[in-house]
Amino acid sequence: MHFPFEIRGFRIFREYLSASAQKAMVSETRSIALEAPLFSPTTPSGKKMSVRMTSAGKYGWYSDRKGYRYERIHPNGRPWPMIPESVLEIWREIAGMERMPDCCLVNHYGEKARMGMHQDSDEADFKWPVLSISLGDDALFRIGNRTRGGSTESIWLNSGDVVLMGGSARLHFHGVDRIRPGSSTLLSGGGRINLTCRVVD
Ligand code: SIN
Ligand code: MN
Repeated sequence: MHFPFEIRGFRIFREYLSASAQKAMVSETRSIALEAPLFSPTTPSGKKMSVRMTSAGKYGWYSDRKGYRYERIHPNGRPWPMIPESVLEIWREIAGMERMPDCCLVNHYGEKARMGMHQDSDEADFKWPVLSISLGDDALFRIGNRTRGGSTESIWLNSGDVVLMGGSARLHFHGVDRIRPGSSTLLSGGGRINLTCRVVD
């Protein structure tokens, strides 16, 4: 049994995944990226994001000059691969919701990658939580408020940690200031992978 602790409604399950479960999930993530290669989306303001992304599921998250949204096909024109059963299993255990996620966004952070403070608000119904799984290098995760600005709290997320953003935390601003390169040997090329499961429509 894993007991989470909470920061501003974010439920953090430390070391939820064993070392062997983490390895297996990395290899499943690599299979996703083979079918649906990682790419760096462009923000609506025209900047290339430093994080590389792909998705699994019925929808994939996408951004370009036209805005943030979900798409049913990868930029290569093909549907996104299926969400691995091992990821769905964690959703069943932790989110415990009758609906399963229809997007698993895969974020890859290289040495210099970061993600600015944002809300996850491209989904249709915020009653469904977002579930995040961290693999590889540590990440400095920042948690803010339901509106932009104000005080924040930061926490290092480590490989195998799982975070549930639901209820009052669902629309809190959050971001990744930086990763700690070389803090994990899980990914052969270094860096960090974050998987987030979302119910989209
Ligand atoms: C995200 O907010 O989409 C990613 C969070 C993370 O990388 O931990
Ligand atoms: Mn987010």
